[in-house]
Amino acid sequence: MAEFPCESKDDLYQQALGIPFEQWVDKEGTFAVYTEGKTPFLRNTMFSSLVVKDALVDRFYKLSGGRPSVDKDKPDVLVQVYFEDRQGRFYCTLLMDSSLVPLYQRGYREQVGQAPLKETLAASLIELCEKSTTSLAPFVDLFCGSGTFLIELALKRTKTPPGRLRDFGFMKWKNFDNQLWSSVFKEAESQRDDSLCPPLLGCDIKEEMIQKAQRNSVVAGVSSCIQLKCGSFENMPAVLGLGPGTLLLNPPYGHRLSTPQELSLMYKKLGQTIRQRFSSWNCYVLTSDLRYIDAMGLFLHKQWDVKNGDLDAKFCYLTTA
Ligand SMILES: C[S@@+](CC[C@H](N)C(=O)[O-])C[C@H]1O[C@@H](n2cnc3c(N)ncnc32)[C@H](O)[C@@H]1O
Repeated sequence: MAEFPCESKDDLYQQALGIPFEQWVDKEGTFAVYTEGKTPFLRNTMFSSLVVKDALVDRFYKLSGGRPSVDKDKPDVLVQVYFEDRQGRFYCTLLMDSSLVPLYQRGYREQVGQAPLKETLAASLIELCEKSTTSLAPFVDLFCGSGTFLIELALKRTKTPPGRLRDFGFMKWKNFDNQLWSSVFKEAESQRDDSLCPPLLGCDIKEEMIQKAQRNSVVAGVSSCIQLKCGSFENMPAVLGLGPGTLLLNPPYGHRLSTPQELSLMYKKLGQTIRQRFSSWNCYVLTSDLRYIDAMGLFLHKQWDVKNGDLDAKFCYLTTA
């Protein structure tokens, strides 16, 4: 809504006062203000939020005699205040949060395991590995857990809008055009097409995870595109006769799921399985430690640094030759 040099409390108040908040929220509505960052003049984030809140309320009183109330838990409108030091000069940005619930929460994952991937991280990794594949070549996730990779792939390939199950912050804004939203939504839905999806196969050693992945794929509306089996990766049965395609793997990390010794052995066995049963497939592995990738004994062509939650991770592109 605004970006300006901010050297004092007064700068912040005056700039916030000039923003036509009444376009987004009614005097009967609710709002909250959240601040990130500080300046030498505004060191306390709660105080900065208060300054913006006062400006917003004062503007309403001047215009209409009433004011929206503050609701920190479920506001209709969330105003965000960011401070940034740009080469010694402090800038403030005032924003409206149009999502409220973080965008990675697509709304289909009711069930997760111990170490689930964020949906948006899975989607970004898919972007990286899709460059080396053809449109209908199969994808296999041998450690599918709650099914995030496969579901994100299915959503993308079937042209299913990933946010179709969730609400967004902007839906509570006063100027939200419900009719326009419905027509955009309908148009997007009309483009969904399951026939665009390649074979997507997943396995996990835990029956409980397979059930979760199954349930999540039903909620996401893509269960008909995904085949799931319970079993260890070396016995994945349905793969015979399919391919070559892409293996997209997020094996256990160690930090949360197994010991380093167990993991090294498992990765070695994984490398052998890939050589024997998936030779000439592209293989992408998300891992916390390149020593596990070495243990696989495959050719490492490329690696990307990624953040998986709090963990520093590597996304590696490997082949058998
Ligand atoms: C890091 S998690 C995968 C999380 C998944 N990407 C998700 O979003 O939910 C690793 C998964 O590997 C599974 N697993 C462990 N050993 C396995 C094996 N030998 N074969 C197949 N799956 C295994 C675990 O049950 C766990 O669900």
